[in-house]
Amino acid sequence: MTGRRDGLAGRYYTDSEIFAAEMDQVFARSWVMVGHASEVAEPGMVITARVGDESVLVANDAGQLRAMFNVCQHRGHELVTSETARLDRITCPYHAWTYGLDGRLLHARGEDVGDVCVPRVRLETLAGFLFVNLSAEAAGLAATAPGVQDGLLARVPDAPRRVLSARRTHEMRANWKVVVENYNECYHCPNVHKWFTSGVVAPGSYRIASGGSVIRHGAERPGQPPAWTGAETDGNGGGAGDGYEAYFVWPVSAIQCYPGQVVNTFRWVPLAVDRTLLIREWWFDTADLTEAQSRLVSDDWENTVAEDFGIVESVQRGVASRGYTPGPLIEDPSGVCGVHSENSVRHLQDLLLASLGDAV
Ligand code: FES
Ligand SMILES: [Fe+2]
Repeated sequence: MTGRRDGLAGRYYTDSEIFAAEMDQVFARSWVMVGHASEVAEPGMVITARVGDESVLVANDAGQLRAMFNVCQHRGHELVTSETARLDRITCPYHAWTYGLDGRLLHARGEDVGDVCVPRVRLETLAGFLFVNLSAEAAGLAATAPGVQDGLLARVPDAPRRVLSARRTHEMRANWKVVVENYNECYHCPNVHKWFTSGVVAPGSYRIASGGSVIRHGAERPGQPPAWTGAETDGNGGGAGDGYEAYFVWPVSAIQCYPGQVVNTFRWVPLAVDRTLLIREWWFDTADLTEAQSRLVSDDWENTVAEDFGIVESVQRGVASRGYTPGPLIEDPSGVCGVHSENSVRHLQDLLLASLGDAV
């Protein structure tokens, strides 16, 4: 047991002061995925998304993508209250101040209130996926997530042209770190995820490499080609020979490639210290799913994603218990993180503690 370090104390998952510090120290300074460029491909298209405790909108302003706080500069109402919209200009639902899609106030119902502009937010794309960062000081996305775009494009060259084909959401009664730690280790996979470890990956080959803000997961496909990798789901004909690959970008975004160039994503939204929203999305060539794709989306949800809902909620109850003392994380000293180790969980906890500094 020597050399083993314990996991985080339970209060990191239950203390609302720590949660508030995370909103400042983590979410207001990190790159967070909010969607895909195809969702705002045409002038006037707008999407909204939560970034930590903030609402942000991304608008296509005559071909230029702009991200800004979704906050009216009059008395603070959200400017756009739906997840998607098609607008020439943005009219606040409260008192009808009207802004251009660049965030500049056009009129305030005839009053002269001077120059007003909704504060912009940094926006960058990664293989077509949109990421925003609320901090002007944070390093750029390419420096934060080096190699991710190249890796994805090598695997799925048309990723920037994929479109939203399916979305499922679910609110979990668990802290976002319980959820993200669970996502980033496969120590539980052979025990919990039989469909995933027989149909999507060969568990013995599963490897997780952590570095900086990126945790990369890779595995070979199982012996039998996965059921969905026929011509029906495969963009390039064949392609079942490629394995599984996923890129998690700290703190709450993940882009996965299943065998057969099947691209799917996880976004997690911290709603409260003990509540997290999952947004699970699938990105194919067209918005309409084939029967095989539709079956894959359902099978994945029912047989893998939903298996984790009960797990993380049970862990949340456990870490809140008077009877919980954190146990040691199982770290492979060689650095190899497969289905028998939790090095990646240690990495996540180190990232968190470094972000929090002496804020808590
Ligand atoms: S809060 Fe938006 S117009 Fe008043
Ligand atoms: Fe899991």
